[in-house]
Amino acid sequence: TQSLTLLGLESSCDDTAAAVVRQEPGKRAQVLSSIVFGQTELHSAFGGVVPEIAARAHAEKLDLCVVDALQAAGVTLQDLDAIAVTAGPGLIGGVMSGVMCAKGIAAATGLPLVGVNHLAGHALTPRLTDDVAYPYLMLLVSGGHCQYLIARGPEDFTRLGGTIDDAPGEAFDKTARLLGLPQPGGPSVQKEAETGDPKRFRFPRPLIQRQDCNLSFSGLKTALMRMRDQIVDEKSGLTRQDRADLCAGFQAAVADVLASKTRRALAIYLAENPATPTLAVAGGVAANTAIRAALETVCDELNTQFTAPPLALCTDNAAMIAYAGLERFRAGARDGMDLTARPRWPL
Ligand code: KG4
Ligand code: ZN
Repeated sequence: TQSLTLLGLESSCDDTAAAVVRQEPGKRAQVLSSIVFGQTELHSAFGGVVPEIAARAHAEKLDLCVVDALQAAGVTLQDLDAIAVTAGPGLIGGVMSGVMCAKGIAAATGLPLVGVNHLAGHALTPRLTDDVAYPYLMLLVSGGHCQYLIARGPEDFTRLGGTIDDAPGEAFDKTARLLGLPQPGGPSVQKEAETGDPKRFRFPRPLIQRQDCNLSFSGLKTALMRMRDQIVDEKSGLTRQDRADLCAGFQAAVADVLASKTRRALAIYLAENPATPTLAVAGGVAANTAIRAALETVCDELNTQFTAPPLALCTDNAAMIAYAGLERFRAGARDGMDLTARPRWPL
């Protein structure tokens, strides 16, 4: 094994990101730099990410992001061993911007190119931030995704189940929109929930009786809308406390559902892999303190090690792409100039 230094690029949703990751032989990899340009302001007037605006902003910002990432890491292109780039899944215009940028650098420098699945990036992050060996159970909870995966290697995942409709982050974002709270919804709903009573409103616990690892979150949003409209009808407006109680009730329901399905997924995983009892979570929703606490409780019950990357590496970033690329590269993977951007790419 040799020391490897990779540049990573990420542009599959509404964050333009570049990062440099290095792994010395026999050591855990290190993030030398991780630059993220968010696009929240660009999309805020539209109530969601506008693909066309996102793609243009990525194309404009990627070069700058790369220069910043190299500079912050104190390396030059000559110090790199390869370039990793998100090749999907995601908004196709943005993914294409990233793949084009990576191909440009690869063509100019002769460096090898490694395409990375964005979901694999999230799923491998626990190995970048903690001493986690394969296999482990992974819960990926973000704005676009929600699934349980058994990770056995950088390209070897088994899916145990996932959401059949909305992702939990999407549900948080919609909840915020319905209550007039700022985007992204996760952090604002969490903040409101701190002063709310989770028991005042009875939210459903979708699919909780089903004996599988599938989840559903769209019904929570419908329930919330009904409760909100009923209050508005009765009192012609929401008070601060109403809003806080709705947020607390909603968040408790999400946490409960995730805890219950995690218990099921862990039972399946542990039956097969009793020697490596580890649950890792990643994705933006893993930043939620109530959800984290609920998952930690389940892990304690089942004598399982719980690990979650720090916040900045839970949400979209390029360090996870550089790291997943590094693992693929070490395993011999190389992509050519025919690397394509894929809007859909299941693990
Ligand atoms: O992983 P991520 O940055 O992007 C995707 O790949 O989707 O996740 C973003 C999502 C957003 O929906 C955001 O509302 C949610 O993660 N999120 C949270 C929290 N922080 C971010 N959801 C709940 N609680 C939070 N504290
Ligand atoms: Zn993501």
